[in-house]
Amino acid sequence: MNLARVIQDRFRPALAGLVADPEPYVAMVKPTQDAKHGDYQANCAMSLSKTLGKKPRDIAQDIVARLDRGDLLEPPEIAGPGFINLRLQSSWLARQLQTMAADDRLGVAPAQPPKTFVIDFSSPNVAKPMHVGHLRSTIIGDALARLLRFLGHTVVTDNHLGDWGTQFGMILFGYKNFVHDNAFVQDPVRELSRLYVLVREISKAAEDDDEANDAESRTTLTAEGRQIAQLAADASRKETAKLHAADPENVRLWQLFMPHCMEEIERSYRRLDVKFDHTHGESFYNPMLRGVVESLLEQKVAEPGDDGAIIIRFTDKNVALVQKRDGAFTYTTSDLATIRHRMDAWHPDAILYVVDFRQALHFKNLFAAARCWGFDQVALEHISFGSVLGKDGKPIKTREGGAVELGALLDEAIERAAQVYDANVQESRDRGDDVPDLSDAERRQIHEAVGVGAVKYADLSQNRASNYVFDFDKMLAMNGNTATYMQYAYARNRSIFRKGNVDVARFRANPPPALLDTPHERALALQLLRLEEALARATEEYHPSEITSYLWDLSKTYSGFFQNCPVLKAETPALRDSRLLLCDLTARVIRLCLDLLGIRTVERM
Ligand code: ARG
Repeated sequence: MNLARVIQDRFRPALAGLVADPEPYVAMVKPTQDAKHGDYQANCAMSLSKTLGKKPRDIAQDIVARLDRGDLLEPPEIAGPGFINLRLQSSWLARQLQTMAADDRLGVAPAQPPKTFVIDFSSPNVAKPMHVGHLRSTIIGDALARLLRFLGHTVVTDNHLGDWGTQFGMILFGYKNFVHDNAFVQDPVRELSRLYVLVREISKAAEDDDEANDAESRTTLTAEGRQIAQLAADASRKETAKLHAADPENVRLWQLFMPHCMEEIERSYRRLDVKFDHTHGESFYNPMLRGVVESLLEQKVAEPGDDGAIIIRFTDKNVALVQKRDGAFTYTTSDLATIRHRMDAWHPDAILYVVDFRQALHFKNLFAAARCWGFDQVALEHISFGSVLGKDGKPIKTREGGAVELGALLDEAIERAAQVYDANVQESRDRGDDVPDLSDAERRQIHEAVGVGAVKYADLSQNRASNYVFDFDKMLAMNGNTATYMQYAYARNRSIFRKGNVDVARFRANPPPALLDTPHERALALQLLRLEEALARATEEYHPSEITSYLWDLSKTYSGFFQNCPVLKAETPALRDSRLLLCDLTARVIRLCLDLLGIRTVERM
């Protein structure tokens, strides 16, 4: 149940008597920032004042008089220039809490109507091991998939691997000319990665020299250097073109490289608990590219350019290539083929591309081209995100200046989680607290859940559009808006039930009445019932950080409750039951939210 919407539904008829289109004013019923103004507030009287030519306070009075409060709301209070402060009746909250407890979905209604989403995420270029740059797309995309699925939508996840582009030309050229045979036998992915970096460094110099207008990024090349760079760039391009033209040797090498590359990235996905329904990389679309370009030409979406290439012209200066003059197809061509395939195969209402902000122009162009080409019914959305920065505020790098590999990063996260956790256990022991005796395997599981969870939560709790600083100490903090804190809150909560020997099943099958007499109990009930509202906000513009903000608010409210309201030692059995109900619901909501973020919880820590 979406609380804001329930209240808005009461306002609609009240407002309908005053204005022709009440919707914009209905939408002005919102949660308050400060509990002293009630639970929700309606600010519509001020905006209506111009339209109706009356004083806002009079309008507010009018609205309140027309409002059917039923058993939902206390009598509203009109404040300041004409704010309508709303407070839900505690008895109503108490009843909703029981309904929520008895529901597996914790009262969250399935989306109406359910839609079909394709989510394109992670999508690394596989010629090199996954690095920190792939982290955000993988984590954010997975969280959105889990969220939309939970809300009842059909979600098709598709990992659009870069397994066919110019980087493969680079490793083909590198492999043919510079491979260390032994290194390749011992660790193929690392050797391919080395070759990729080597060739890219050389050939990039040619590009920089060609294209850079600003002195800063220009490489100073000697005539000979320029020649070598140009040679390498041309040779790589030729290798790509040969691969695309099914040259047997290049296809053989591609087939030799791919399983190694895949094994490496799948290891990362296993560690991150990320799965895909489909992994259609760029190579999958190769057989369709010629047909795509023909169709684009036929429908006058694309045109021949001056130099024999085929282009889509958006403006005079903004042109996308769909076929280069050497015959090679491009990233855009394969992305257009991908849209057509996805539409044919899954008929989605929306396709979400979780890709970093630097590709904004590519997607803007791609979507415009797709609409021109006839795909104008599907919502195409670039779910953009910022960079992961090091503590120096620059894009994160290893000490040697290379890309931080994902595997190494997760290893370190788990290692540090182990230190934080073990130190905390020791401290609790020293204090004489009850600490569960856990096996090594259990401890290992906790270290992994805490380490990987910390990395995910730190990322998801940021507004995705911003950059964020990657900081292990902050993300593993025991207090604050971190996964570690939430995981502890969950496990401590579960320990109440173990300690009191309480069977949780009763609180779900047959929930006892909730008694909400203290402000702490009432505040917690309200916060729990706001779950659906938070998930709706997260879905609106695809912001998982709405879920972490909600969790953070919930955990603060819970700790206020827990410090002030004895649970197992409550004054009466009825109060004990009611408080246990609040505890159990808090645990279930935390667990659900973490699950939607792809973060594991453990029962004992
Ligand atoms: N492989 C690309 C890269 O690493 C990302 C692909 C994103 N998805 C897409 N359909 N273009 O930059």
